[in-house]
Amino acid sequence: MRVVILGSGRGSNAEAILAAEQAGRLGRARVVALFTDRADAPMLALGPRFGVPASFIDPAPFKTKLEGEGEARFIAAVTAATPDLVVLAGFMRVLKPGFLNAFAGRIINLHPSLLPSFQGLDGIGQAFRRGVKITGCTVHGVTAEVDGGPVIDQAAVRIEAGDTLEAVAAKVHAAEHTLLPATIARLSER
Ligand code: GAR
Repeated sequence: MRVVILGSGRGSNAEAILAAEQAGRLGRARVVALFTDRADAPMLALGPRFGVPASFIDPAPFKTKLEGEGEARFIAAVTAATPDLVVLAGFMRVLKPGFLNAFAGRIINLHPSLLPSFQGLDGIGQAFRRGVKITGCTVHGVTAEVDGGPVIDQAAVRIEAGDTLEAVAAKVHAAEHTLLPATIARLSER
C-alpha cells in the first residue's frame, strides 16, 4: 500500500510513521512521499533522514483552505505519487471537493481529541479548558465536513488532577504516535 503524508509543521507523526516502517511495524504500507504547504516546515528534514522524497508545494492563494491553483498543484503532485492512502498528519488546511474527489475514500486524518468532541483548531486546549477527564486522539476518514468523517480508531488519554496543558499535550501526542502507525498498518492488511 503506497502512502503519501501531508503535514504543515513539526512532523512528529510523520516521523512516527516512518520509524514504524523502518522497524517493520507498518504492515504492507510504505511511505512514498511527504508534502507540506509550508516552506519552513521541520517535517521536510524527515525526507533525507528516511530516504523519502519530501517537498514543499505552494498552497497559494488561500491561507486556511486548499482551493484553486494551490489545490491543483497538490492534486498533481499527490497523483504523481500514485497513493493508495493519503494521510493528513497535522495538515492545517481545509480540503475542498477538488482534492477530496481526486482521492475519494483514500484520505485519513489525525485529530487530537476524541471526535466528535472538540473539533477544529486546538483540540487539546479545548479539552483541557473544558475540564474533561478523558481526551485522546482520533483517526477518521476525510469528507467535506471538517473533522466529521467516519471514525476509524481512537485512543484515550486520562487528564489527571494537576496536569498542565503541556503535560496533556505530551500524553496526547504520545498516543497519536502509537495510534496512527498502527491504524495505517491495519488498513494495509485489509
Ligand atoms: C497533531 O497533534 C495532530 O493531531 C494535529 O496537529 C498535530 C501535528 O503534529 N492535527 C490537527 O489539529 C488537525 N486538525 P505533528 O506535525 O508533530 O505531527
